[in-house]
Amino acid sequence: MRKNIVAGNWKMHKNQKETIALLEEIIAKKPQTSTEIVVAPTFVNLAKAVEITNGTGITVAAQNMHQAEGGAFTGEIAAGMLTDIGIKNVILGHSERRAYFHETDALLANKVDTALKHEMRTIFCFGEELKNRQNNTHFNIVEFQLRDALFHLKKEDWQYIVLAYEPVWAIGTGETASPEQAQEMHQFIRELIAKVYGNAVAENVSILYGGSVKSDNAKEIFSKPDVDGGLIGGAALKADDFLAIVNGF
Ligand code: G3P
Repeated sequence: MRKNIVAGNWKMHKNQKETIALLEEIIAKKPQTSTEIVVAPTFVNLAKAVEITNGTGITVAAQNMHQAEGGAFTGEIAAGMLTDIGIKNVILGHSERRAYFHETDALLANKVDTALKHEMRTIFCFGEELKNRQNNTHFNIVEFQLRDALFHLKKEDWQYIVLAYEPVWAIGTGETASPEQAQEMHQFIRELIAKVYGNAVAENVSILYGGSVKSDNAKEIFSKPDVDGGLIGGAALKADDFLAIVNGF
């Protein structure tokens, strides 16, 4: 169901003590809002995050998971291990995992299927590289990513999907996409989904923007009709910065 969402992807930051402190500050300072607030600490702090946020309305998400239900996959985490501690949301396809761990859209399709089997909601990340935007193939790249990873899904599966468009050239660089660039791509994505799945599905999927969202640019980006919020990296690591973005709606 389409809604405004601000999700903090903490990446490989915050030990347990820092996680507790940041969550307690976010809880203490969070405004009354219809915007869904999501936090994604590291694996080792997820159980504690679920415990601390219980009853606050804040959603806790994992930053990844394996596609298998279990087995000889050293260092990996299975979906059942996440739902077992109360995690029902997972970020998949982040560009850093595509780059450093060679995750392909075919592999991500399997991960999304596993998440669906566990009735987990996926925040699915995708986006073009700088060279794609420079040679004007960014729409093609985004279409291929979505078709290869998600367009095998049935209509009813889309209730468990949140999209996060994250142009790689904007992640961690301070080079935020302009509100117009974000809206242009989000509108393209929504129209593509409408073509394949119909207007009802397209109008009901939340499409987040990620890539150097800060307190001073969130409001304008979020004001665009096809932008339903943000997936936040660096600015998610300080409560005031993160909540200023939440207040961007
Ligand atoms: O997943 C969100 C992240 O990639 C964006 O990072 O630091 O540019 O907000 P940042």
